Amino acid sequence: MVLLDGKKISNDIKNEIAEEVKKMKANGEKVPHLAAIIVGNDGASLTYVASKVRACERVGFDSTMVRLSNTTSQVELLDKIYELNEDPEIDGFIIQLPLPKQIDTQKVLLAVNPDKDVDGFHPMNFGRMALDMSTFIPATPFGILELLDRYGVDTQGKHTVVIGRSHIVGRPMSILMGRKGFPGNSTVTLTHSHTKNITQITSQADIIISALGVPNFLKAEMVKDDAVIIDVGITRVPDDSTEKGYRITGDVDFENVSKKASFITPVPGGVGPMTIAMLLKNTLLARERQMK
Ligand code: GUN
Repeated sequence: MVLLDGKKISNDIKNEIAEEVKKMKANGEKVPHLAAIIVGNDGASLTYVASKVRACERVGFDSTMVRLSNTTSQVELLDKIYELNEDPEIDGFIIQLPLPKQIDTQKVLLAVNPDKDVDGFHPMNFGRMALDMSTFIPATPFGILELLDRYGVDTQGKHTVVIGRSHIVGRPMSILMGRKGFPGNSTVTLTHSHTKNITQITSQADIIISALGVPNFLKAEMVKDDAVIIDVGITRVPDDSTEKGYRITGDVDFENVSKKASFITPVPGGVGPMTIAMLLKNTLLARERQMK
């Protein structure tokens, strides 16, 4: 069994990006600048955005965190987005999801300038992705592709089963794994809450990508020998024995599934750190595109 070490690979990618930034600085060019809007006080979202800002510092990007209160109206949020769309200093920005219920997420994502949409959530970028055009690939799926690529995991002609059809992970992942090229050329099954006999499907999979958010959902009995297992779950499970009072748990029963798998991502230290590295990569791409 090979551990797909997202911590290590994300560090490699950050080092590569930091080198690019050094060159930009040496040439007197503007360095990439990422902004993140966060609405409300959700603990997990605040942690993620803080990690994104720290990652920017680590590679030499400029970053701006925009904090808005939980009671922010849709109009106020849209005004902020229009401001960032027009700000020549900002190369890319994200709106951390989920948003409070008074805000229509789809309207918000549509308002983002597609050239600055480093999350790849705008329908134009999502459509470009589905059509094999150059675009911003959403960071988590992009990170999974990069992990598969750097470990040389064979995807061609394999049966990939994706669990969960979220707009952020499952849906784009199902499109990307079936695209022409590498990693891709897979035969893809997208499963979700209405899927019947899921064990029958997962037990035929060469590659399983689980993005469900149910701790320890995927058991050893659901997986065939030598399967490749990608665990996108990052659920906070209460645990008094830890300092924070919780631990991060994946969708996969790692202890038992890892005995059967050929490749597997740990949680934490698998897909999570890759997401941040690929957000930086998209921001670098946004800067490069704006220079052209
Ligand atoms: N919430 C969970 N994952 C993500 C992500 O990749 N981007 C944003 N903006 N919000 C998220």
